Amino acid sequence: MSAQLLDGKLMSDALRAEIAQRVAALKEKGVHLGLAVILVGEDPASQIYVRNKGIGCEQVGIHSVTIRMPENTTQQELEAQIRALNADDSIHGILVQLPLPKHLDEAAALAVIVPEKDVDGFHIQNAGKLMNGLTGVVACTPKGALEMIRRTGVNLSGKEAVVVGRSNIVGKPMAMLLLQQNCTVTMCHSRTADLAAHTRRADVLVAAVGKAHFITADMVKPGAIVIDVGINRLENGKVVGDVDFENVKEVAGFITPVPGGVGRMTITMLLENTVEAAEKLLG
Ligand code: GUN
Repeated sequence: MSAQLLDGKLMSDALRAEIAQRVAALKEKGVHLGLAVILVGEDPASQIYVRNKGIGCEQVGIHSVTIRMPENTTQQELEAQIRALNADDSIHGILVQLPLPKHLDEAAALAVIVPEKDVDGFHIQNAGKLMNGLTGVVACTPKGALEMIRRTGVNLSGKEAVVVGRSNIVGKPMAMLLLQQNCTVTMCHSRTADLAAHTRRADVLVAAVGKAHFITADMVKPGAIVIDVGINRLENGKVVGDVDFENVKEVAGFITPVPGGVGRMTITMLLENTVEAAEKLLG
């Protein structure tokens, strides 16, 4: 393997130790941190994510509450639950696990969360702040991915960054964060013509596509920083990313593994955003 491994577990362990200290400091001031996670329906991947978020909270001393709502929950019921959490002083962060069942309006639900408790950074006010270069809550996955990129020590100014995937929760905020680092950013997506021509120019390549082994070694510039946001389950049960890790690691300069890469850092950033939300509430 020629690439250096960007180990999300190792990075997270150090960051979670710092977060635990901040949680303890708040506790000394009488503030017991609470995170509420709303899970609607039975999506198996969401169940796993939510469980891992609970484990992360426990590790750093945050009290987490998972509110499970049935698949047939109405928009009104969901929004009433969010409003109750908005008003609950023991809850500092609110997260609505996505995707929601198809009959529910995600954007409308996210808009009900008070921006100060929006630890996912999905509220339009926080997304808009990122777009305008203002300080708000930054979405956990791109925030964690940027932290990993920064820990390579590579000077990002003027570098070519290519983001594959244009979702509101990863692709778009990732592009904004890389732009803030003075990268020249290209966003690619399912309609991009000659995708490989773009990815081969990338000094920083972020794959957030949701397709196993989508990024192959011939699509990667030698020495590139390759960040794999994908979590795909193969038929044999194995979890892999969007990057063909075994072959790409021979070409890239730095690479994140799956599992143990960006996914772990996403949860760490959620814990950090929850602490920051409480610290801001305290002034
Ligand atoms: N579904 C997939 N990733 C995420 C995430 O980061 N937050 C929430 N709320 N839902 C997700």
